[in-house]
Amino acid sequence: MNSYKIAVIPGDGTGPEVVREGLKVLEAAASKFAFKYETVNFDFGGERYLRTGEVLPASAVEDFKKFDAMFLGAIGHPDVKPGILEKGILLKLRFDLNQYINLRPVQLLDERFCPLKGKGPADINFTVIRENSEGLYAGAGGQLFKDTLQEVAIQESINTRFGIERCVRYAFEYTRKYGRKKQLTLCGKTNVLTYAFDLWQRTFNLVAQEYPDIKTDYAHVDAITMWMVKNPEWFDVIVTDNMFGDIITDLAAMIQGGMGIAAGGNVNPDGVSMFEPIGGSAPKYTGKNIINPLAAIGAAALMLRELGEEKAADAVEKSIREVVTGKIKDLGAGKMGYSTTEVGDLVVKGL
Ligand code: IPM
Ligand code: MN
Repeated sequence: MNSYKIAVIPGDGTGPEVVREGLKVLEAAASKFAFKYETVNFDFGGERYLRTGEVLPASAVEDFKKFDAMFLGAIGHPDVKPGILEKGILLKLRFDLNQYINLRPVQLLDERFCPLKGKGPADINFTVIRENSEGLYAGAGGQLFKDTLQEVAIQESINTRFGIERCVRYAFEYTRKYGRKKQLTLCGKTNVLTYAFDLWQRTFNLVAQEYPDIKTDYAHVDAITMWMVKNPEWFDVIVTDNMFGDIITDLAAMIQGGMGIAAGGNVNPDGVSMFEPIGGSAPKYTGKNIINPLAAIGAAALMLRELGEEKAADAVEKSIREVVTGKIKDLGAGKMGYSTTEVGDLVVKGL
């Protein structure tokens, strides 16, 4: 019997509530599909930072390397200045654990939850593969003459041939394995960012030669936001850089029904990956048992797939789909017609 070690970071706000439901579904999946797992909890997040002044202990990254996967609730606290927890925990883990892919499947499960007129589940079904280790997120740059009228801020986008190639290669492999149209779109800005996206485009074209079975396509980032609203059915798999990927995946989350259902993975294909609902800590809903846990449960399904438990992942996703199409009134917090825990129970029952 396969056995997995899973590091759990419930985090801030509603993170612990949705993580609890994700783990509930994981437990049910383990008994049904005959695998074992153990979890270890880590209390990293805003509360711990405010209490101890420590964002992430020095040993954390090495500790996490001993796990098979990580399951994260949310990081972000209203009393902590923006940037401290994001850079100190989330981005540090992505970088130091070499989770160079941000995987965001986007699927509308029920027409009722789509804000786009005339679009249904057949139209909104694509995946965004976001480079997760470079670009504007690398932290290159600095401030000069701070707090004077001459102040200068420089924030550079780092794009390496190595970093782009491994991301693009992952995207081609992913398209071959999961793409419904075997079509990969590069999203960039080759008309203005003529250094960075020239390198992206050339690397993309070079790798494409090894995948004659994959159709390739290109869209500028501004145009893609338009097409995602107007013709989302055009897309199958999209690969893009860190900043553009951050922006377009929030748009994508909305057309699939909102943050209540949007799950993502920070993937190191050769190491430990971290899975999370992408909605954030939603402090105003904390402790009310009204937040939608389906994004976290979807993240658990992505984790199962990455661990190799494909059947369990399929079953969890099928059960989520049935809850969304047959039971739930709305995907938003407080409007589901069920509590957070009840929605978790429904997914378990569906298994
Ligand atoms: C995301 C988030 C993070 C990001 C923040 C919280 C640092 O928005 O995962 O998309 O910008 O990557
Ligand atoms: Mn984001």
